[in-house]
Amino acid sequence: MAKGRTVEIKTAGFAYRALIEAGALQSLGRSMRLLFPSTEALLVSDDNVFGLYGDMCLRVLAREGWQVKTALVRSGEQSKSLDVAGYLYDMAAETGLDRNSPIIALGGGVVGDLAGFVAATYLRGVPLVMVPTTLLSQVDSSVGGKVAVNHSSGKNLIGSFYPPRLVLIDPQTLSTLPRRQLIAGLAEVIKYGIIEDGSFFSRLENELEALLQSDPATLAAAIESSVCSKARVVEKDEFEKDHRRLLNFGHTIGHALEAATGYSYYLHGEAVLAGMIAAVRIALALEMVTADDAERMTSLMERLGVKPAPPALTAEQVIDKLSHDKKRRGQDQIFVLPTGIGKAVSLPVNDKRLIKRVVAEYLSGK
Ligand code: GLY
Repeated sequence: MAKGRTVEIKTAGFAYRALIEAGALQSLGRSMRLLFPSTEALLVSDDNVFGLYGDMCLRVLAREGWQVKTALVRSGEQSKSLDVAGYLYDMAAETGLDRNSPIIALGGGVVGDLAGFVAATYLRGVPLVMVPTTLLSQVDSSVGGKVAVNHSSGKNLIGSFYPPRLVLIDPQTLSTLPRRQLIAGLAEVIKYGIIEDGSFFSRLENELEALLQSDPATLAAAIESSVCSKARVVEKDEFEKDHRRLLNFGHTIGHALEAATGYSYYLHGEAVLAGMIAAVRIALALEMVTADDAERMTSLMERLGVKPAPPALTAEQVIDKLSHDKKRRGQDQIFVLPTGIGKAVSLPVNDKRLIKRVVAEYLSGK
């Protein structure tokens, strides 16, 4: 088994660890035993992920004396709803969870956000253990404490900041990850290099092929660097008053693309990748970044393969969704724009023609 790496994340109330280790799932029961004085737990997963790792997790939990009930939800964004949360509250009550009994989220971002929301609210909070199984959730949503469900008028509108007590990242789970999801996760990995960690960016320029080949050691190291980067950002600004907004790089146009296509065409990371390239173009046009740096960023991102927009999508449809975005200040859109490799700022952009131009460039495949 490869040597594990631990990243500590400090929150307002306590510190928690993200353990990144090939085979980490095997230590789930023991790691929880060391943290929680309880024997009951609720395992939340989706039907796909549970089919792959469910039995093994239940076995290692039982070995340490955990009595676990399992709640399965359908895989996909539609499960992030108050209805499904209601089902999980029923299961939590049936399991007899008390305030020391953890909810375990085994799966990708949907399961993590949903189970996290239920953990944050059931009994006004029970411990949350994140066991993310997609690259995107391993490098982003499992760390930092954002939990939410969707509302009919938008994604993640009902939620909270509720840090997990433990994050267990097993890079071996990525061996079953579809390539499209790997690329979507790598988009968020590159994000950290651009906004926060210039030396990681340079490493990614050399290691992207190995990452695209799912080389286990390279992936584990990239996950560690990403989690460290995210930890640095959320430790400075856990509740997203200012600095944490940098994590929204690529998300202004990315979210608008997802919304304009009914959340059914793009994976989140695919839309964010297109949004990051558009944001670099805005930064270049506003002379906030040098042409050389913009070229390095764009060419690294393009090596992932940018998903083309659906042919019928128009710039007007995307701009319309932008104007409904949470990240708006008055009439201006808030963008995160890079100012160099490993540096970025968040600021309002009022040049609507420029925004429309970069959206149109992406839609036309430029
Ligand atoms: N995914 C962005 C954040 O955690 O703030």
